[in-house]
Amino acid sequence: MSKPLEGIKIIDFTHVQAGPACTQLLAWFGADVIKVERPGSGDVTRSQLRDISNADALYFTMLNSNKRSLTLDTKTPQGKEVLEKLIKESDVMVENFGPGALDRMGFTWERIKELNPGMIVASVKGFSEGHHYEDLKVYENVAQCAGGAASTSGFWDGPPTVSGAALGDSNTGMHLAIGILTALHQRNKTGKGQKVAVSMQDAVLNLCRVKLRDQQRLDRVGYLEEYPQYPHGKFTDVVPRGGNAGGGGQPGWVLKCKGWETDPNAYIYFTIQGHAWPPICKAIGKPEWINDPAYTTAQARQDKIFDIFATIEDWLKDKTKFEAVDILRKFDIPCAPVLSMKELANDPSLRASGSIVEVDHKERGKYLTVGSPIKFSDMTVEITGSPLLGEHTDEVLESLGYTPEQITEMHASRAV
Ligand code: COA
Repeated sequence: MSKPLEGIKIIDFTHVQAGPACTQLLAWFGADVIKVERPGSGDVTRSQLRDISNADALYFTMLNSNKRSLTLDTKTPQGKEVLEKLIKESDVMVENFGPGALDRMGFTWERIKELNPGMIVASVKGFSEGHHYEDLKVYENVAQCAGGAASTSGFWDGPPTVSGAALGDSNTGMHLAIGILTALHQRNKTGKGQKVAVSMQDAVLNLCRVKLRDQQRLDRVGYLEEYPQYPHGKFTDVVPRGGNAGGGGQPGWVLKCKGWETDPNAYIYFTIQGHAWPPICKAIGKPEWINDPAYTTAQARQDKIFDIFATIEDWLKDKTKFEAVDILRKFDIPCAPVLSMKELANDPSLRASGSIVEVDHKERGKYLTVGSPIKFSDMTVEITGSPLLGEHTDEVLESLGYTPEQITEMHASRAV
């Protein structure tokens, strides 16, 4: 069966993580993604954080599977000519250069539209167009700080903290992929392309929506009852960092399990959801709390929440995180073990579902990568290895009508 995006041709002018994560997703779903890279060096992540000398780094291979690679110096006249031909026959161009780089290369939106009125040009930038920081170059943690994630993460007595999850990079790429698919859908109706842009700041902010909710609640009532600062601590006029408190109105915390003294991940996340209170009391051996007015409502519990967590930790001290979850799941209590990357890499369920997959690479051999988190009933997403630098240059040039002599000449002049 053909893949859903088969027939969609994408010029992948992306690098590092935000853009490549977007185009990789589209490639998994069947688009022909041609990664355009500078001759000789390519995407900087090919050589960043290498674990095997002279082989593409995992940073690159894990963000560029299912693509083809074309080397092209788009600042040379020949390179520009090749890119123009590609634009004429492609559907989408995705880029995440620093501000203004595409224009400086000569490929303004006006020019691209002239070459192909159906073209969708999708961009990632650090800040949105017209923003007072629009000239800034931006990386992951910069975006997490600018988008509200850092000021609201970490502990109240520590500094702003960034997340290990790529909220600035891959998250922005996922937003952009939604934008591209939306523009393609629109083009099916109008025949016209358009510009689609996502800023990293906006994409982070979109995930910090509940914190903007909290700012407005704080402005109105002066406190946030689900934060550890309530009722004993102090609130200022800005949303505080809440440590590991749950953001959705259910108090929760990361609790120590057996072995926490030596294992940095011997913890579970435990949520005290209102309706789960009786089963929680039963599970942890405190049935007397079920009908005790000092504990029956969430409000009554709030000023003792850390004493309650301490009691649960006492119950957990002779149980591993997996044993604890196995007991708590029988009581329908929302919880999970804190899993390390090593445990995730070897998780049989993630392997079976294709969420972690082993892929072959021409230079590296086998490596693990994260497969599609989106599952379809009519398609199994197959992940293939990332391309070597320029692996598909000649075949792409041939498909654009260049003769073998012209291709040899382009290699000699280092245009490709
Ligand atoms: N041929 C010729 N020139 C090329 C080329 C190619 N195939 N590919 C890139 N270049 C040129 C660009 O035209 C640009 O030239 P110019 O600045 O002289 O006009 C130059 O390479 C550098 O591009 P730039 O994207 O600015 O790279 P950088 O290494 O200085 O900055 C980032 C890297 C990521 C900070 C920057 O690209 C950025 O802010 N991007 C937007 C936000 C983003 O995606 N951040 C990264 C998230 S992972």
